[in-house]
Amino acid sequence: MRALVCRAYGPADTLEIGELPEPVAGPGEVVIAVAAAGVNFPDTLIVEGRYQFKPAPPFAPGGEAVGRVLSIGPGVTRFRPGDRVGAVTLWGGFAERVAVPETRVVPLPEGLDDITAAAMLQAHGTAIHALQDRAVLRPGERLLVLGAAGGTGLAAVALGAAMGSRVTAAAGSEAKCAIAREHGAAETICYADGELRAALKSAAPQGFDVVFDPLGDSFTEAALRATAWEGRLLIVGFAAGQIPRLPANLVLLKGCQVMGVFWGSFVERDPARHAANLETMAGWLAGGRLHPPRVEAVLPLDQGVEALRRIAARDVRGKLVLTTGG
Ligand SMILES: NC(=O)c1ccc[n+]([C@@H]2O[C@H](COP(=O)([O-])OP(=O)(O)OC[C@H]3O[C@@H](n4cnc5c(N)ncnc54)[C@H](OP(=O)(O)O)[C@@H]3O)[C@@H](O)[C@H]2O)c1
Repeated sequence: MRALVCRAYGPADTLEIGELPEPVAGPGEVVIAVAAAGVNFPDTLIVEGRYQFKPAPPFAPGGEAVGRVLSIGPGVTRFRPGDRVGAVTLWGGFAERVAVPETRVVPLPEGLDDITAAAMLQAHGTAIHALQDRAVLRPGERLLVLGAAGGTGLAAVALGAAMGSRVTAAAGSEAKCAIAREHGAAETICYADGELRAALKSAAPQGFDVVFDPLGDSFTEAALRATAWEGRLLIVGFAAGQIPRLPANLVLLKGCQVMGVFWGSFVERDPARHAANLETMAGWLAGGRLHPPRVEAVLPLDQGVEALRRIAARDVRGKLVLTTGG
């Protein structure tokens, strides 16, 4: 089958379109004919061998996929061939077909088309899990979102607004801030000048009730300092580079909670709740309560290298989706 193939760990431009063996559904697995796959920041790390898991080359990257079940392996109980599904693939989504354990597969809500579903599955899935399941964000609370025009960030902005919070969005350029406002941010902070800490203090002297941090590095201490008394700081990712260490005294002084968010593990441990989250978001979209996801481009699989390059270069506002022709 056709796939975007990583033959040896290295930069995205060393990948090429090629052939990989046809996947076979093993015990507990389904094979999905991939229609569309969201492109995510971890895909750029996996091909360089710099992520938590390291698939053995040759392999196709692609951490999530949307499509129809083609075949099921022994013991599969929740799906049948023909079902429309979304899956956490970890890798292998940038291919015509992929085999995935059924525990990482969910049915797709009616009315959610393939491109929208591919744009939302991981980014919105992570953001709603963070805001609703972990932080239990309440209407009227103040929410700060960092990296607010990235995949998870823009989803958190739109979902925070849909949930009735007052959203402050922080991003690395004025153009990205403008996009965050279009998606429901009440106010924005551009941190291109590196003055995030002072800007946060002036925007919310008492701090933010909930802070969504997909950046890590030095951003996280600024985020913790901007967290309110009894607030919740959501640790989502480390797109800015380093995994930060936090001064624990600030957690004590603020009586706040630092909360881990691990969407992939959540999906595997509680697929029913993940499916319910998707249903909730599909309902909000249909009813006009949730701003539709921003799909910056839909690219054919042949342009997978370009998609990875753009994500790594911080050059995407919202999501890129690959269509695989599966
Ligand atoms: N915990 C989970 O379950 C979970 C789920 C999904 C993703 N993640 C993680 O969350 C992070 C963000 O994911 P995402 O999908 O939102 O990524 P994304 O779409 O690539 O957005 C990341 C944002 O980070 C900012 N950024 C700051 N420094 C950067 C740098 N050195 N390189 C690249 N971007 C930089 C960029 O915004 P500015 O230019 O505005 O600064 C960019 O828009 C990643 O680390 C990812 O692995 C975690």
